[in-house]
Amino acid sequence: MHHETEKELGVRAYRPTSLHTESADTTMANHLTNSDHHTELRRSPQLDRLKDLAVDTLEEIEQARPLAREFYVDDEVYALESSLLFGSGWFAYGPKAALSKPGDAATLDIDGEPLLLTCDEAGIQHAFFNTCRHRGSCLIDEPSTSGLKRLRCPYHAWTYRLDGSLEHAPHMSEHPGFEVDGVHLTRCAIEEWQGFLWVSLQSNPDPLDVMLRETPSFSRYRTSELVVVEQTRYEVDANWKLLCQNYSECYHCALAHPELNRISHFKSGGTQDSGPSFVGGPMRLNPGFDTMSLSGRSSRASLAPELDDDDLVWYYVIYPNLFVSLHRDYVLSHTLVPRSPTHTEVTCHWLFHPEQVADPKFDPSDAIEFWDLTNRQDWELCERTQRGARSRAFAPLRYQPSETCVHEFDRWYLGRLLEASEDRTTP
Ligand code: FES
Ligand SMILES: [Fe+2]
Repeated sequence: MHHETEKELGVRAYRPTSLHTESADTTMANHLTNSDHHTELRRSPQLDRLKDLAVDTLEEIEQARPLAREFYVDDEVYALESSLLFGSGWFAYGPKAALSKPGDAATLDIDGEPLLLTCDEAGIQHAFFNTCRHRGSCLIDEPSTSGLKRLRCPYHAWTYRLDGSLEHAPHMSEHPGFEVDGVHLTRCAIEEWQGFLWVSLQSNPDPLDVMLRETPSFSRYRTSELVVVEQTRYEVDANWKLLCQNYSECYHCALAHPELNRISHFKSGGTQDSGPSFVGGPMRLNPGFDTMSLSGRSSRASLAPELDDDDLVWYYVIYPNLFVSLHRDYVLSHTLVPRSPTHTEVTCHWLFHPEQVADPKFDPSDAIEFWDLTNRQDWELCERTQRGARSRAFAPLRYQPSETCVHEFDRWYLGRLLEASEDRTTP
């Protein structure tokens, strides 16, 4: 049966798509071989070092070596990727539904910047740098909170509305010329995409839909309508890229995830789908199962009628830090926040449709327990690899042929890092 399934789904060796050629291959060729236009770059020891570290991974998968040790342990590489991949572009916060009730607020730390996200009385989301305009105290500490009416600074009680405007500053009327009106927390950009919120530290970033162009539509799964039924935060002692790579292959599934492999065979992966902003693809449920849960069964209605007989589960990494897993009857998302070369915060959301939740028999626990178990199994593998990367002998040899999505992720990462480094290095 599995042979038929593999053939039908078209598991294939990696072939660069035209998109890939444009976004990574050509870029790589320019970065690595062009000797005419990069005089300035040759003067950058940091860029030269990156090129040397990257070259073996950028080969076709049969010859390529997985990412070198430095990409998991080196403080300088981490500082660079943190600044270039997270501090200079868009990154995902998570589902909009996690920040959709007036008074909801969340904090996160990206590239060393403390950020504060709010949902105001009108249901509009805002993103700010989490620093008071008086003398700079952080305003909110909790990773997520709800029911806020105002943002009151714990230091001297300057008080802001949920849209970031200053409402009250005690005793500042004693300051001649100081006006409360017009003072505002410093804004970051925030936009919604297919039910997920994205944030940029840049005041005027490129439009989000330019970055996410050609990313598949999730509309069949009604991701913009879903609500958060469960949210779990994990602290993982591993580099964020190890989590991305681990999510992108099922070579480890038979050994590490017996519960998962029983329901969806590790060789059931379909054709890799990839573009400038994503990589992913489907896996098929084994016969007799209808969702990813501990029992493999679900009495929940499908998210949409056209999904009723869909035995595929779609898994996507949306660069740089969002995983979206689309099941017939629910959606799972993971958002990664790198905190150091060896530590990553992960927030996982289980999303269902309000119509499902309204069913008196609604019970999401089977899906929650299944993925919580699988998550913990995965984090153990990532932490194990991070411990291996402490060794001077850490020198990955080859990708297994089914690890095309891992290779694609690694090539995106290197391409983006080198491209952004070049932009920064060139006067
Ligand atoms: S630092 Fe916030 S009120 Fe003084
Ligand atoms: Fe896994």
